[in-house]
Amino acid sequence: MNLQTYIYEHLGDEREVLKELYRRTHLHTVYPEMVSGHEQGRLLGMFSRMIHPERILEIGTFTGYSAICLAEGLTPEGKLHTIEQNDELTELAALFFKEAGLSDKIIQYTGDALEIIPELNICFDLVFIDASKKHYLDYYRVVFDKVKKGGYILIDNILWYNKIFDSKIRDVTTEKLREFNMFVSKDVRVERAIVRNRDGMFVLQKK
Ligand SMILES: C[S@@+](CC[C@H](N)C(=O)[O-])C[C@H]1O[C@@H](n2cnc3c(N)ncnc32)[C@H](O)[C@@H]1O
Repeated sequence: MNLQTYIYEHLGDEREVLKELYRRTHLHTVYPEMVSGHEQGRLLGMFSRMIHPERILEIGTFTGYSAICLAEGLTPEGKLHTIEQNDELTELAALFFKEAGLSDKIIQYTGDALEIIPELNICFDLVFIDASKKHYLDYYRVVFDKVKKGGYILIDNILWYNKIFDSKIRDVTTEKLREFNMFVSKDVRVERAIVRNRDGMFVLQKK
């Protein structure tokens, strides 16, 4: 048995709707490995239930797996806003939001998050950043003032498959992520934790 099998055996069953979404993501998309999956999904669902947010913003919907998990903790009146620039994914995600009974809880936006976020007149309790790694600092800057005091920002893939601390690796994406991580590590406006899950996640709380 390996670590992954052990973890999956002890997490319990994946919800049917998520299992099917994971399968459809692998059948219908070019980079299916971008989907969160069961381990990450349970973590996001747990964070959301702990925070019990009224308003969630997700940057990077993809096929909707993480959005369905994040919606688990929404208050009865709560809404999740999710942004995806690839319009070929809108329908598939919408289909699964419906399957999950979340059509009235999840608001989808199609377009560039950097253009859409400034237009949102909403204060968020929880933000999940999971779009282009080269633009993490841009998303962080544009969303920061829209996070309420005491609110949370989760940022995925910050260890970048361990490339982040290998000084021999100097490609653009890795360098941009390093710059972002450095910025956040010095940002006195937030409390910080790092979860060593699949690919590392910053858990930030706005002071
Ligand atoms: C890693 S995937 C998201 C995975 C999804 N959160 C999940 O866990 O299943 C990243 C997504 O961000 C989208 N994306 C990249 N840059 C974007 C931008 N500037 N605005 C909106 N979406 C963007 C990509 O098209 C891609 O579908």
